[in-house]
Amino acid sequence: MNPVFLNGKLLPAEQAQVSALDRGFIFGDGIYELVPVYSRVPFRLDEHLTRLERSLGEAKIRNPYSRAQWRSHIYQLIDAQSFDDQGVYFQVTRGVAKRDHAFPKGLEPTVFMMSNPLTNPPPAQVEKGGSAVSAVDNRWLRCDIKSISLIGNCLLRQLSAEVGAAETILFRDARLTEASASNVFIVKRGVIQSPPKTNLILPGITYDVVVELAQANGLALEFRDIAEAELRAADEIWVTSSSKEILAIVELDGKRVGDGRPGPAFRRMHQLYQEFKQKVMRAGKREAVSV
Ligand SMILES: Cc1ncc(COP(=O)(O)O)c(C=O)c1O
Repeated sequence: MNPVFLNGKLLPAEQAQVSALDRGFIFGDGIYELVPVYSRVPFRLDEHLTRLERSLGEAKIRNPYSRAQWRSHIYQLIDAQSFDDQGVYFQVTRGVAKRDHAFPKGLEPTVFMMSNPLTNPPPAQVEKGGSAVSAVDNRWLRCDIKSISLIGNCLLRQLSAEVGAAETILFRDARLTEASASNVFIVKRGVIQSPPKTNLILPGITYDVVVELAQANGLALEFRDIAEAELRAADEIWVTSSSKEILAIVELDGKRVGDGRPGPAFRRMHQLYQEFKQKVMRAGKREAVSV
């Protein structure tokens, strides 16, 4: 029931064992992806695999599988689960070696995948919006790599978790970067705005979908540096990620955002996103679908 994948094999989670010398365990030396799956159809799988390949390249970890092999392993894992809406997590570490920061050549990467029931925000939260707190972005300067070394993100996320908020929004040098586990958009006078993709943020797959939907529907959109004061004065704030989809932030550090309710631009984008998801589901899992 609900097996996981380890180095080419599907097996029960309790039998999936990795050496304590794995560099993922010792150093957090690995990269990962999380793909949402709706009705057993992975959403934007090719884009996730492109980002995986890029993260591996930047981290100098050998990619153990071709694109076709990745797809086939992922479909097998999805089909082996007992539930339809899934969050498929997969990670690749540099492999097992005697502890030394420098890595030996020719290591065999460790590949682990699991699928959990997908937990999107419940409709009541989408309707009401969520709250966020802010913090200084004190992570490293390669936030564009989807690294499993997430202690920085975990510490920052905990700040919002402790006060029951949905996210921690981050500023570096008083400029918006992203949030602890999502990208951030603001809306001011009808213009959707977000920081450009640089080394300071993760290039979100959901971010790209929002951008494509805005462009395809003629919505005003700008990529620019956003000062902390601008974010605090925004009409709307959204966070986006594969698990949150698009969520309106209606309270930041205890102060209302706009009129304290999800705004009209959010409602439009949320609707466009849901329609696009339906289109992807109808097309089935072996076809790429554009907005
Ligand atoms: C730091 C960070 N930024 C942004 C995102 C959103 O990325 P995606 O839309 O690909 O899920 C995530 C998702 O996990 C994240 O951890």
